[in-house]
Amino acid sequence: MAVLITGSTEGLGYAFARLYATKGKTVLIHGKDPAKLAHAAASLRREYPFADIQPLQQDLAEKDGGAKLADVSGNWDIEVLINNAGIGYTGEAVEIDPKKEADMAQVNIVSMLQLTRILLPKMHAGGIVLNIASTGAFQPGPLIAEYYASKTFVVSYTRALAREWQGRGVIIACLCPGPLRTAFYDKSGLSVPHMAMDPEEAASYALSHLKNGAVIIPDPLSKVLRYVPSRIKEAYVYRAKKKMLRGKKY
Ligand SMILES: NC(=O)c1ccc[n+]([C@@H]2O[C@H](COP(=O)([O-])OP(=O)(O)OC[C@H]3O[C@@H](n4cnc5c(N)ncnc54)[C@H](OP(=O)(O)O)[C@@H]3O)[C@@H](O)[C@H]2O)c1
Repeated sequence: MAVLITGSTEGLGYAFARLYATKGKTVLIHGKDPAKLAHAAASLRREYPFADIQPLQQDLAEKDGGAKLADVSGNWDIEVLINNAGIGYTGEAVEIDPKKEADMAQVNIVSMLQLTRILLPKMHAGGIVLNIASTGAFQPGPLIAEYYASKTFVVSYTRALAREWQGRGVIIACLCPGPLRTAFYDKSGLSVPHMAMDPEEAASYALSHLKNGAVIIPDPLSKVLRYVPSRIKEAYVYRAKKKMLRGKKY
C-alpha cells in the first residue's frame, strides 16, 4: 500500500510526505525537477530510515503528464492520492504569458483529473483522495484570475466526486489553505503575507479532519471569511494584489 503525493519536493507536499513517512508508509514523492526530487528523497530517507521513499519524476504540465504519472504509480497499490502540485501566476489575465497560462490549467486541473480517473477506481475501502485547492476558490481573483478559477474547479469537482462515491468506503475531500509559508508566493511573483501558516500545520490539520466530501479550511480566519459575500472579497483581492504587484512585471 502506498501514498502518492504530487508536487512533494517542497512546501505543502513535502509536509504531507513527512507525515506519511512518520507512519512508516511507502511514500511516492513526485516533482518536475530531477535534482530537487533526488534531494527531497535523500532528506526524507535520512530523517525516516524505516520509511520506503520512492521518487517519481514527471512534468505535469505535459499534455498527458497526470496519466503518465498514474501509469508509473500502477507498480504500487495506491491507498492515498494527494493531488497537491499547483502553480499560480499573477497579473492581468490577458497579459499572462499564454504558455504559463496553459501550464497552470494543465497542472492545477487536467493532471488532477487524469490521476483521479486512473487511480481512484483501483482503490480499496479505506482509500483517500485529497485534492489541494485554496481559499482563493471562494471568490473570483482579479489579477490572479485563472489561479483562483482553477481552485474553484478543484473544490466543485471534489465535492461532486465525493457525492458520487458516497458509501463506497473511499474518502474524497479537498483542502483549502489560506496563505502558506512556502516558495509558492515567490514563484507567483508575490511576497509571503505575514499571517501565512506553516505547511506542516496545514498538512497535519488536513489529515486529522478527513471525511468524505469535506472542504477542509485549516486557519480560523479563513473559516469565517468563507461566508463574507464574494463581491466584497473580490474587491479586497483586487486592491491587495494591485498593491503587491505595483512596480512588478508579469
Ligand atoms: N502557498 C500558499 O500560500 C498556498 C495557499 C493555498 C493553496 N496552495 C496550494 O497548495 C499546493 C502546494 O503549494 P506549495 O505552496 O507547497 O507550492 P510550492 O512550494 O511551490 O511547491 C510546488 C510543488 O509542485 C511541484 N510542481 C510545480 N509545477 C510542476 C509541474 N509542472 N510538474 C510537476 N510538479 C510540479 C514542484 O516541484 P518542482 O519544483 O520539481 O517543479 C513542487 O514540489 C498547490 O496546489 C497550491 O496551489 C498554496
